[in-house]
Formats: sequence, C-alpha cells, structure tokens
Amino acid sequence: MATRDTNVKGMRTQVGIIGAGPSGLILAHLLRLTGIESVIIEARSREHCEQRARAGVLEHDAAALLERIGVGERMRREGLVHRGIFLRFNGRDHRIDFTDLTGGRSITVYGQHEVIKDLIAAALDAGQQLLFDVEDVSVDELESRRPRIHFRRQSGAVTLECDVIAGCDGFHGVCRPSIPNGALQSFDKTYPFAWLGILAAAPPASEELVYTRHERGFALMSMRSPQITRLYLQVPPSTSLDEWPDDRIWTELRTRMATNEPWALCEGTILQRSVTPMRGFVVDPMQYGRLYLVGDAAHIVPPTGAKGMNLAIADVRVLAEALVAFYRDGSSELLGEYSTTCLRRVWRVQRFSAYMTRMLHRASDDPFDDRVQLAELEYVTSSRAAAAALAENYVGLPFDAR
Ligand code: FAD
Ligand code: DHB
Repeated sequence: MATRDTNVKGMRTQVGIIGAGPSGLILAHLLRLTGIESVIIEARSREHCEQRARAGVLEHDAAALLERIGVGERMRREGLVHRGIFLRFNGRDHRIDFTDLTGGRSITVYGQHEVIKDLIAAALDAGQQLLFDVEDVSVDELESRRPRIHFRRQSGAVTLECDVIAGCDGFHGVCRPSIPNGALQSFDKTYPFAWLGILAAAPPASEELVYTRHERGFALMSMRSPQITRLYLQVPPSTSLDEWPDDRIWTELRTRMATNEPWALCEGTILQRSVTPMRGFVVDPMQYGRLYLVGDAAHIVPPTGAKGMNLAIADVRVLAEALVAFYRDGSSELLGEYSTTCLRRVWRVQRFSAYMTRMLHRASDDPFDDRVQLAELEYVTSSRAAAAALAENYVGLPFDAR
C-alpha cells in the first residue's frame, strides 16, 4: 500500500464508471446530457471493444432511446427494422407478427459492436474522459461517501475518487467480487447447453430471424446486414471449436434448418466463431454502499430471447434517472430503489428467456418432453393470446412498467 500511495496520481469525478460496454457508455452519455461528470475506465483497447461480436437485437424502446439521445443516426440508416420472427418446427415456418400483436412495435437488428462504435465516437467528440487499456483495477471505501477506484495506466498508478461507482464491467469484472461475502444473494442456473455462433459472409436466407426447433437441437439464423449472416447452433456445454470444422457447421445448420418447402441456407466464408455457455444469474441487491452493479455485472440471461444488451440498457435508464435526482434535488430516494426497480424487470426477462430456451432447445431424449415441447410451439403459433405474450416480451416490456 505504501508504495502505491507515494507515486499515485489522484483524480476526482462525480460518477466513476468501470467498463466501456453498452452499460458504461450509455450511462456516461445520459449523465453527460444532464451535466453530470463521469470518467470511464476500460480494461481492453478501443479496437477490441469495437470488434467484439455479441448481441444483435435492440428492443423497440432501446432503439428509440439511442435515437433520442443522439446516437441512433447510423443505426436508423444501417440497422434492419423487423416486424416479426419465424418459429420453425416440423419443417414449417410460423410467423409471429410483432407489429400486429403489439400495436405497432418492432425490433431493430444492429450489432452490439456497432452500437459501441457509435457511443465511443459520441463520447470522444464530447470530450468524455474514457480511458482504455487500464490495468490492475480495484475498488474500495464502498461504504463511505467517497468510494475509490484504483488502476494503473502506462503513465503510472491512479486513484479516482468518486461520489458513486457504477460497476458496468460485465460478468467477469472486478466490481461484484469486491462486495463482501454475504452482502448479496446470488441465484445461478446453468443450462445444459452452449451456443456455437458464427458470422458468415453470406446473404441472410430469410428477411426475418428464424428460430428453429429440431430433434438434433436448436438453430438460429440472424443477420447483421444484407451481406452478413449470424448463425447459432445448440451444442453441448463443453464443446471445443476444434470439433467443429466449417463443413460440420454448415451440414448441421442445413440439417436442422431444412424445410418441407424449397429453402436453402446461403453459405459463405466464416468470419468469426465462438462458443458461449448458457446460464441464468442474478444478484440481489444490485448494489452495495455506493457501488451500483449494472447490466451483466449483476445478471446474465440465456441468449434465446435476445435480451442481454436490452436488459443492460434498462438498468442504465433507472440508474441515470436516480443519479439525476441525486445531484439535482439531493435526493437518494431513487438510488435507494435502484435495485428493486431493476430486479422486477430482470426476473420477468429471466422468465421469458427461460421460456424461449425451454421451448426451442433439445434438453432430453424423453419422448414425453418432446411432445410437450411441440405442443407448446403449436399453441404459441395458433393462439393469438399466446403469440401476443411472446411478441410483447420480445419487442420489450415498456420501460416504465412497475
Ligand atoms: P459488457 O458488454 O460485458 O461490458 C463490460 C466491459 O467491462 C467490457 O468492455 C470489459 O472489457 C470491461 N471490463 C471487464 N472487467 C474490467 C475491469 N476489471 N476493469 C475495467 N473494465 C473491465 N446477448 C444477446 O442478447 N444476444 C447474444 O447473442 C449475445 N451474445 C453474447 C456473446 C458473448 C461472448 C457474451 C460475453 C455476451 C453475449 N450477449 C448476448 C450478452 C450481451 O452481449 C451482454 O448482455 C451485454 O454486452 C451487457 O453489456 P454490459 O455493458 O453490461 O457488459
Ligand atoms: C441474435 C442473438 C440472439 O441471442 C437472438 O436471440 C437473436 C439474434 C443475434 O446475434 O443477431
């Protein structure tokens, strides 16, 4: 400690933000618009953050928010507005018409890394303090009125003193593990599958996303542009990419996505590939002292409902509103309600993501389970009430739902 203290540069800000993912960047943006100062520190390089292929679906209100705060211009030009999805099973497509079922709402397909590029450009343009490539990040004094972030840059060690710290550092970050044992309750569910995801230089073979249930497992066709397809396959959790040469990936996708009517997947060079385990995870509360956990730092959902990034954005809205009240009126009331407000939505989204996962993945060899799964799919594609429930959740529950 003594060596750290002698050479440490001191910095001060209102809100210290750890992590430049969607959570951290949108929070800084909302705070900037209301004159609240923040510093973002990020462990990875700008290039890394801008290239990381992850989520691709923005809920109706999430897309509207990006537009309203001035970072939606490229999204509106290049993003793809979708008014429905297809559920494919027994070789047939069944469309869920979001716009009809939700009174005009839709989703926007636009890669998370594109959202990140737009937010970083806006931040740097506005003079936001955004420090990439920081090392040895830690936090302390969380219960005090001056919580601190310590980190190292090329130029030396820094201590950043804050009023509040926003832990936007994702599932593997340092913020959540810095909270004393026993202060948070955690809820963890490991699903017995992973997703093998690829990005391919091939036009999407359907204008809308296709979620497929097949005896060999789930498959999903999404997209990033009229030239780039994003595809996912359900695989066992311990899968290594070495087991999946290109030919095997395409054969499996063709088999699972085959239809009774003529339909062909467009194939092309695989540009990126990854395996992501599937889990549900929540901590309660999402706060300790003056440290607020946001997005993946506080919760993870299985990706079948396309909710991870959207849930992060929903947390950010609640925290930004609470911080505005804190600085403008000196009121801590909304900050005190942050966790309860967010967790209401988090559990609804866990429910929806678990429902989509259960309905579409192959979980057992039990023929009874198979029949129940098919009955669920037949119900949701034939009952307007059931289809409306899916659509309402997929396009996103209203932000102000209490
Ligand atoms: P993150 O995006 O994880 O951002 C956290 C940031 O903090 C990162 O930039 C990280 O580098 C930084 N950081 C971490 N530790 C430190 C530290 N110690 N100090 C400083 N900075 C730190 N969701 C979907 O809806 N659909 C998908 O297909 C999908 N695919 C995914 C694939 C992968 C591999 C992962 C990991 C997630 C995926 N998600 C998907 C989830 C979605 O991307 C996340 O929910 C979303 O990124 C959450 O945003 P966030 O800002 O909370 O966290
Ligand atoms: C994408 C990811 C999802 O998890 C999903 O449910 C739909 C689309 C995507 O990456 O495009």
